[in-house]
Amino acid sequence: MKHFINLKDIPGKDLKKILQDARRRKKRRAKLTALQIDKDIPLKGKLLIQMFEKSSLRTRLSFYLAIKQLGGGTITLRSNELHLGEGAESLEDTAKILSTYGDGFMFRTDSDKKIENFKKYLSIPIINGLSPSSHPTQVLSDIFTVEEIKQKPISNLNITWVGDSNNVLNSLIAASVKFSFKLNIGCPKKYEPKQSIMNWAKKKHKKIFIFNDASKAVINADVIFSDKVISLNDKVNKKKKMKYFDKFKINKRLITLAKKNCIFLHCLPRGNEVTDEIFKSKNSKVWLQALNRVHVQKSILLYCFGKLR
Ligand code: CP
Ligand code: NVA
Repeated sequence: MKHFINLKDIPGKDLKKILQDARRRKKRRAKLTALQIDKDIPLKGKLLIQMFEKSSLRTRLSFYLAIKQLGGGTITLRSNELHLGEGAESLEDTAKILSTYGDGFMFRTDSDKKIENFKKYLSIPIINGLSPSSHPTQVLSDIFTVEEIKQKPISNLNITWVGDSNNVLNSLIAASVKFSFKLNIGCPKKYEPKQSIMNWAKKKHKKIFIFNDASKAVINADVIFSDKVISLNDKVNKKKKMKYFDKFKINKRLITLAKKNCIFLHCLPRGNEVTDEIFKSKNSKVWLQALNRVHVQKSILLYCFGKLR
């Protein structure tokens, strides 16, 4: 049984196989509508249970479409509507029940520990749909989008992140090791990535370039990524934190410093880390990026369900 919790812990060859399958499937269903099922119906009769402890638009909808297009079905739970959320049922018993009714479990949570605990008690695969430390389904899908647009392996491209050092960036750092691409990070000194993820990358002999000046980080970039300065449930003084990022806004001046055909990506939802002008410019590929999550998550589901060919 394969879980999908952190890119760090998944072999690079498996991640590449997932993307290859996603490319094949996306191409094959080019003329199908949202709810038409892939010809091979690989997950016929399978149930994906989704549970959210935090808000979600894209992850929820893209997993819904993903499992449907594979021939299965899904139900979405909010943890505060379960006995578990009220402290009236243990995680262990909840996990047993999820495993009794369902075939896979997609979980968005405020606690990495909870994912590990679920993993311990579930007898079905668990997929991390965003946790404090990572957002692996998002970033794997973003690699797909970059390679689709640029028509070359991401290992031949310069990737830059400008913004907060958060869960999405952690997954991007993990991906830079698994897919061997150059990664620049532009962020304030106070908000550099945690030592633990940097040490992990270092152990993998990966050099990641950190700049406390956004202009330097974007030079020669093929892709610029950003994300909200304030993440979901970020317990900080918002005004104070935002102030640190004043000089890290993605604007026209910054984009001009990157390569001419540089693209802008953002997992969404957005805050004011990017100007409206850039967000809506031809450099911005955020809508395709969001759509591709359906395609890549289908192949992640197949990987977890042991059906990836
Ligand atoms: N990008 C992303 O995960 O969006 P949602 O929070 O809407 O799911
Ligand atoms: N870093 C953001 C990503 C949202 C999809 C958050 O955790 O809120």
